[in-house]
Amino acid sequence: MATPLQHLPPPALIALRAGTADRHRAVDQHPRMRRLLGASPSLDDYGDVLQCLHQLHVRFEPAMRRALEAAPEPHAGSHKLPSLESDLRALGRAVPERPWPEVGDTAPPGTIALAQHVGTFYVLEGASLGGQVLARHLAATLGPSVAGALRYYTGHGAQTRLQWARSCDSIARSLVDPPAIDLAVRQALQVFRVFEQLLDATDPA
Ligand code: HEM
Repeated sequence: MATPLQHLPPPALIALRAGTADRHRAVDQHPRMRRLLGASPSLDDYGDVLQCLHQLHVRFEPAMRRALEAAPEPHAGSHKLPSLESDLRALGRAVPERPWPEVGDTAPPGTIALAQHVGTFYVLEGASLGGQVLARHLAATLGPSVAGALRYYTGHGAQTRLQWARSCDSIARSLVDPPAIDLAVRQALQVFRVFEQLLDATDPA
């Protein structure tokens, strides 16, 4: 029989959740995100947020994928640039290949530790959990005009929960030692921070 302790999340997930909870709140309470979840979001609001997400992935995803593909533990998921690019094109938006130079922290990550890439993976993969809520809301409020531009947010579809459980498993297997967990939390905070900078830099309010 399972003991109560067996139901506790692994230390890496506890640390990542607790360490980034404030930053997650700042992001999901950001005026740009609030507009998307409001009664009447516009296609422009949505396109602007997608553009920020694309910029986030342009900065972090390629190096993260290279590192995780070479890692001892498999980390499935988080290949999201193609769906972001497809959604932007569907909205008639530009798809820049490089980070916007005018937004802070644009330097691509140099050589960083595997644990840091796992911290990036946590943020980029976890973002799709809230995405399910957003996708349903956008489809309901914007109707057919957004139908071809929801690939990123519908991502793993009905498999989202299962995919997240798998991601959490691989994160927990990769991050066992406290120093590695600490590195991952710092990196996850940095990724959230860059997303906030992107939202702020493009907020007309
Ligand atoms: C309006 C925007 C957002 C909403 C409403 C939202 C909502 C949520 C919700 C409801 C969950 C928990 C899902 C569950 O376990 O049942 C979640 C988890 C998460 N979200 Fe968001 N989110 C938003 C934006 C973002 C963004 C932009 C990012 C990253 C850039 C992000 C990163 C994460 C992460 C990493 C988790 C996993 C937390 C954990 O369980 O360890 N979210 N989000």
